[in-house]
Order: sequence, then structure tokens, then C-alpha cells
Amino acid sequence: MPANPPIIGQPLNRYEGRAKVTGRANYAADNPASGLLHAWPVASPIAAGEIARLDPSAAERAPGVVAVLHHRNVPALRRPPDDMAHGLKAGEMRPPFEDEKIYYAGQFVAVVLAETLEQARWAAKRVKVDYRAAPHALTLDQGIAAHGAKTQADEKNHRGDPDAVFAAAPAQVDATYTTPVEVHHAMELHATLAEWQDDGLVVHDSTQWTYGQPRTLAHVLGLPPEKVRVLAPFIGGGFGAKLFLWPHTVLAAVAARQLRRPVKFVLPRSLQFTCAGHRPATRQRVRLGAERDGRLLAILHGSHSHTSLVTDYVESCGEATSVLYGCANVSVTHDLVPVNVGTPTSMRAPGACPGTFALESAMDELALKLALDPAELRRRNVPVRDEDRQLPWSSIHFRDCIDLATQRFGWARRTADVGSMRSGREILGWGFASATWPAIRQVAEVRVELRADGTARVVCGTQDIGTGTYTVLAQVVSELTGLPFAKIEVAIGDSALPRGPISGGSMVTATVVPAVAQATRAALAQRQAGRSPAIGEARTAPGDELRRFSFRSFGAHCVEVRWDPEISRLRVARITTVVDAGRIINHKTARNQIEGALLMGLGMALLEESIYDPRSGRVANDNLADYHVAVHADAPQLDVTLLDRPDPHIGEFGAKGLGEIGITGIAAAIGNAVFHATGRRIRDLPITIEKLLA
Ligand code: MOS
Repeated sequence: MPANPPIIGQPLNRYEGRAKVTGRANYAADNPASGLLHAWPVASPIAAGEIARLDPSAAERAPGVVAVLHHRNVPALRRPPDDMAHGLKAGEMRPPFEDEKIYYAGQFVAVVLAETLEQARWAAKRVKVDYRAAPHALTLDQGIAAHGAKTQADEKNHRGDPDAVFAAAPAQVDATYTTPVEVHHAMELHATLAEWQDDGLVVHDSTQWTYGQPRTLAHVLGLPPEKVRVLAPFIGGGFGAKLFLWPHTVLAAVAARQLRRPVKFVLPRSLQFTCAGHRPATRQRVRLGAERDGRLLAILHGSHSHTSLVTDYVESCGEATSVLYGCANVSVTHDLVPVNVGTPTSMRAPGACPGTFALESAMDELALKLALDPAELRRRNVPVRDEDRQLPWSSIHFRDCIDLATQRFGWARRTADVGSMRSGREILGWGFASATWPAIRQVAEVRVELRADGTARVVCGTQDIGTGTYTVLAQVVSELTGLPFAKIEVAIGDSALPRGPISGGSMVTATVVPAVAQATRAALAQRQAGRSPAIGEARTAPGDELRRFSFRSFGAHCVEVRWDPEISRLRVARITTVVDAGRIINHKTARNQIEGALLMGLGMALLEESIYDPRSGRVANDNLADYHVAVHADAPQLDVTLLDRPDPHIGEFGAKGLGEIGITGIAAAIGNAVFHATGRRIRDLPITIEKLLA
């Protein structure tokens, strides 16, 4: 019965590709609604203090304005608990307009609802607000001075006697690395269209969590969860910024409830810097102690990251540190520092991404001290098991990733001396770093319907944030039924569907594939029994294997940068990356994930940084002209290989899922290449020309 040739693994075009490129795919803000009101926020220009006086009267008289909402006329909202298992978690736990207090610049103090977007925006400027400003803290040092640092007990990770062993180690590295605030900046702006229909709230939302968003929103509004339905069939990128509920979505729903009209709230790009999460600034001290042959004896990784004054978000920089290499003596600590900025959140490979910048830069510094090839140093420390949890790996092909990446790149031709490789007037730098990310699987419920007309429908309340989820679901059904890919209909992105996973942590494929397979087989059995339509349902969850194995993916990057000292030009010329992520369901969408992550990592290494004005606390470069992300012109040659070896324990087909692993390690690989070319070790991202010339 299976189709011939097999469809799993094929680099098929996206299920929804045609709808997207022809403009038929409606994103949240594209949806029509009659009697629509447009929202425009009024944001605090001060970073700390309180509202002394708020006078909306001029705005209320402006043309087209229906209402101005603020802390005095919005009923009290409830703080959600932090309970992801039950679909409850907000990006910022303080509900908007809770009181007159100001905790960060950009915080909403009012929202104008008007007949047109232009009218709302014009009137927002006429909301008169007087503030009583208080001193603010922005940097980690200012935050520590003002509020102290909160040590995170559960982030602490300890084995052996790291301090003593480090002190006595024959080779030592002790270096501190810093990373700045970065912002996700998905192409599609955060957007919510909220509408009361009958007795419930229907929300078109750009969200990575169709399951949790309605539950959390219902909790905040004091509604039963079944009264809120969230629709998100198409999402133009998320990267973590759209995992959890943010104030603009709450305010769209509040306004729709109060005004009994549909409300659309598109968060302006400038406020994405403050009101929908960011990767916090980090400062990380890494100490490595090693034998002369490179074997690691001790690793100490202590990090600080900031959070807001209204919600604790922990950037667990040491997430990968205790498991990436075999090492008997390890200490990982984390301190959280509150400052007057909007609440940070998960951003692609949270924790491990900035964490591996520090760890993998330090490994390069260690290789130099030992006069050892940087790739060889990693080979000598490949972890035979998860020493943190004392478990064997479900599968590990880390050494093969290192070998294949170096082979494809031509690493053997590398000469170790700084500046020793040239091409014309350019100096070449070759850098190496490892990549790693957990392989997570969670609960999924799937329904598959086989119809008499030879078509099939598969439904699951997950969503596709641009990663290929639609395509993967259709491929599994096609594989098991023998039906052509084009005959499979996929319904996702709707909280009314059976429970699906959050699009976070690179877990969707590993989570849904076993459930789709099981539901498809159940439907086939129904058809065998003569039923039409044949409907199969499945609920799958990881089981006992979680106690027997540790699930993780590994990879390797080789990078070539070219430095032209005459005109001080630095560019990344090529990247070779090899990743093991178990079985690959679709080689095109999978490769696309890693390529995107590499480019995002290039932006992290060389370009991205939110710059706060120390006087006002406002983001000075709050637009995409001044905040630079990597674009096509920055793109190097990308050579991505996915090993495609099924993990025997993660579930049917052995797919581990991928995406975030691509951005781990890459900033370090680039920094290491920059050092090899220039002799400058820039431990403070981004690596700008100014820093190279200083
Ligand atoms: Mo990702 S930061 O888990 O969306």
C-alpha cells in the first residue's frame, strides 16, 4: 500500500506555498470584519515612574475616535498563572493598564480605537499624559546596583569539584563574553483581530501557540476557556516572540468586549522592540580547565541576564554547557537582573544560543592555548553519555557531524597562524564551533479522515509558523495511505481542533509525526472494516523512554570570513554546517530551517543590537533601518547537510525535529574565524568594524 517511491524525506514544495505566494493566505491582520475598529497605542516615553495625569479628552474629540482606553476605564484584568502544561502562560504577566506605574519605556498607557488606522494614530498623539519620572536602570550593572541579582536555584548545575580542578588544571581559559539585546523581528508584525460572535470571542492572532493563547487570554479576561477561539492558519514567522500572550492581544480583546465591535491591533514595528519580547542582554564568564591533550577537566559557566520589573524571564545560558562535552567537573550558575526594559522572552534557541557563543568561543581560546586544531579539540571531548542526568543518549552522531563538516569545508587545508591564509588582498579566517539543542517531544492529538472520493483530511491544533508543519503532516498521511500528496487536506491553526504542540523548542515534527502515523493507521483499519468516511484518532505522548535516554541533537559549523584590511571590510563568505536531527521528513523545509537559522546567527554575530538611550531608556534604533538584520546581500554560500539517521527511541520514523540548533554555535564559529583572520578576539557581540579597528 505505501506509495512508491517513499514520500517521507522527499524535498517536496510547501503544502501552502502557492497560497502564500499568490496572496490567498490570510494572515491575522488580513481578515475582513464588518464594523472594524482600529487600535493605536500610546506608549510611555519614560522608563520608570508613574502616570501623574492622563487626559484623553482631546483624543476623544478627534475625528473617527470611538474610545480611548486606559487604566481608569478598563476593568481589572487577572494575572495568568505560569502553567504551560495547562496552556497558561503570558509573555508579560502584568496585565496592561493594571495601575499608573511605569516599568519600561514603550509600556502601553492608553489605546485609541477609531474608525480608521490613520484616525487612531492621529488621535493617539493627542492623548495628554504627564509623568512623574523615577531613576531607571538599563544595563546589567545598573540593574544589580538598583535591584540586586536573583540567583536561579533551578538553573544551577553542579558535578565534581570544578573550582579546585580548574585551579590545578594544566591549561586554563578564563574569559567573559557579552551579548546585547536582540529582537526577533518576524516579517509579519504581531497582530490581533478580536471579535465577539454570539457569546464568545473569536481571535485571529499571529501566535505560535494555538492551544495556549485562548486559555491564557480567557484567564486574563475572566472568561471560561471555551468562550475564546483562536485562529492562526498562517503565521509570518515567530522565532519565540509569538509563543506567549502580549498586552496588545489582551487590549484588542478588551476593546472588542467593551465596544462590542471587532478590533484590529497591529503592533507597530517600533514597539516590537519593547512590547513583544526580546533576547535579553547577557554577561557570561566561562572557565575551562583541560589536560595538555585537550581533554576537559573542568567547566565553569556563570551567567547574568536581564529581565523586566514585571515578569521574570530566565535566559538559561548554561543550558547546553553541562552536556555538550564530556567533563567530570562542571558548574553552571545563573543570575537574573531586573532592569527597566520590556519583558524579554524566548528567542530562537533561548539560552543555548548566547550560551554557546560564550562556551564555543572559550573552546577556541583553549585550542589556541594548547596549539590544538579547534575541531580536533571537540572530537576529544565528545560526550559518551549525558553526564548531567546520567543517561545514555538515545542516539548521537556528533563526531560524524564534526568529521563531515570539516571534510566538506576543506578544513584540512587550514593553516593555524593568524592571518596566514590569503586570497588576493583579502585575509581568510576559518572558524569552527559545535551546535546542540535538545530533542523534545510532547503531547499531540490528531484526527485523520479518509474519504470515499480518494482524498484525506488530517487535523491537529498546532500551527505552521513558516517551518513546514503543513507539509510534514500531509507527507506522513501520504506515505502511509499511498494517496498522492495533493489529495491530502491539512487543517491546523485553530484552537477548536484537537490539542497540538506549541511551535517552540523545535518540537513540532517529533511531536506530531507519531500521532499522525497512529491516527492514519486507525483510519486505514476503519476503511478495511468497510466504513466510509474512515476516521482515525490518536493521542500520543512520550513515555518511559524519557527516563531511559537523554534526547539531544548535535551539529558542527565551519565558517570562512574574509577580511579586507585596506577598506576594513568583513564578510562571511561561506558556512558549512552538518546537523544530526534524526530522520528528516522533508529535506527542503528542513534545510531551509537551518539556512535561516545560520543567517539569523550571522546577524547576531555581526549586526544585531537594540541600543537603549541611557538618558531616556528608549530604544534609539527602533526600526529596521537602524537595527540591522542579515539580508540577502549578507548571505554567504551555505552548505547544509542533514545526516538523516532515525533516532531509535524518539517515536515512529525517528524524527528529532530541528530549527533552533542551526543558530547555536554559529556566532562563535564566526567570531573564531574573525580571530583567525585578524588576531582580534571580540568577546562582545556584535562584532562590528568599530570594535575590530579599536
Ligand atoms: Mo522558539 S524561541 O522555541 O519559538
